Amino acid sequence: MPTASVNAAPSVRTAGDYDPNWARVDLSVVPNVAVPAPGPKSKALHERASRIMKGYSSQVRLFPVVFESGKGVTLTDVDGNTYIDFSSGIYVTSLGHCHPKVSEAVARYAHTLMNCHDFTTPVKTALLEKLASVSMGDLTCMQFYSNGTAAVEAGLRICRAATGRHEFLSGFMDFHGKSYGAVSCARMDPTKGVVRAPGFHMVPRSYPYRPTFFKADGTEDVDALIGFMETYVREACVGPVAAVVLEPIQGWAGSVIPSEDYFPKLRAFCDRHGILLFADEVLTCMGRTGKMFCMEHWDVVPDVMTLGKGFGNGFPVTAVLASERFADSFAKISASTSYGGNPMACAAALASIDVIEQEGLLAHAAELGRFFEKRLAKMKAEHPIIGDVRNKGCLLGVELVKDRVSKEPFDEAGARVYQRAFGKGLAWIPAGHILRMSPPIIMEEDVAARGMDIIDEAIGDVERELGYR
Ligand SMILES: Cc1ncc(COP(=O)(O)O)c(C=O)c1O
Repeated sequence: MPTASVNAAPSVRTAGDYDPNWARVDLSVVPNVAVPAPGPKSKALHERASRIMKGYSSQVRLFPVVFESGKGVTLTDVDGNTYIDFSSGIYVTSLGHCHPKVSEAVARYAHTLMNCHDFTTPVKTALLEKLASVSMGDLTCMQFYSNGTAAVEAGLRICRAATGRHEFLSGFMDFHGKSYGAVSCARMDPTKGVVRAPGFHMVPRSYPYRPTFFKADGTEDVDALIGFMETYVREACVGPVAAVVLEPIQGWAGSVIPSEDYFPKLRAFCDRHGILLFADEVLTCMGRTGKMFCMEHWDVVPDVMTLGKGFGNGFPVTAVLASERFADSFAKISASTSYGGNPMACAAALASIDVIEQEGLLAHAAELGRFFEKRLAKMKAEHPIIGDVRNKGCLLGVELVKDRVSKEPFDEAGARVYQRAFGKGLAWIPAGHILRMSPPIIMEEDVAARGMDIIDEAIGDVERELGYR
């Protein structure tokens, strides 16, 4: 892989040294919810906005606070309350809000060159070469987009162009975005008038806490799961399958981490059938799980991979990467777009990768993950409504159940704990009965501990309210 000459590469990397303590938090003043939240200014603004804006996420519906600013691992609302951020926006600002190096890089290109379609620019060349150098295996052919859904859509079309096959398999409860192709390989509710496109099939996927296929001792039987997929492609598909499309760890489904042997066995299944493995790393990439790419945990190289969210650390930039074997497919699908790979986007992504490397954030996220693992285990031991806890690096999930034997999902408790903790100064993410957390990977352990204390307290409060204590 050639490297950009010093003259061709922009000066994003060397510019603007920043204070290494820029995101340090003084826990004597943070979090601070002096005005019960959502406060009066939040309520008034949200009411005005929601008269016009429709389709809010449950994150907002359950706690309609109005944010004014963010710095590092904290957010401040319009009533002056400050929160610890356990959401990174929505898995996006992994390096913290307004990381000086990323902000400086975007600002520079906002003043230099905003768009020139898909013409080559120095900053794009530098990003392409950087990403190719850190990518997995031979995933060094790529194209950039401005949201995860567009990257997934391009990935699906690349799989079809590369194989000449039409059908896709995806996993129960996966999420890949909201365009027609992306929703077709995700959980959908047919009672809401949504229709899956022809050729898209959902099959069970690994879920160790709630396995579809299990051994006599109750643990997940991955061989049986793969065996079912063998039967499915033989008996149920209409034509040959182009790809299996999966999130390495399911985000929206509740930080569901597969069994260790799932991806290695799935890779072998794909190879037996000439099926491509498409890993949608939009949510899990760029250090979120303690590795640059989540698939590295299982040492499995996919054929196609998508990146998003933490890739630009807040600036909308995403990517689809494919094996060099499928280089021709990009031209076949006419992969370019209006905004993909614009100079500001490339500068943001390049600065983000540099920050991850320079600040040693993969190791830090993994270390923080070990801290979270211990705290989660302690919480599970102390709270009867916790059925399961799990994390990889800074991607966490806590599954609330009415009863540990029946494992009946406890949605009411999930909503209450989310609201309780938010009111105590923790900005985070609900998912029905599963609590989800994705703190910025720059977070220091003392701040992470304070966030976990808030969740612990909130679960205790709700257990008392609901008669579990
Ligand atoms: C795994 C995964 N893929 C794709 C998407 C879609 O990304 P975007 O919302 O940027 O279109 C998401 C969004 O949450 C996601 O989690």
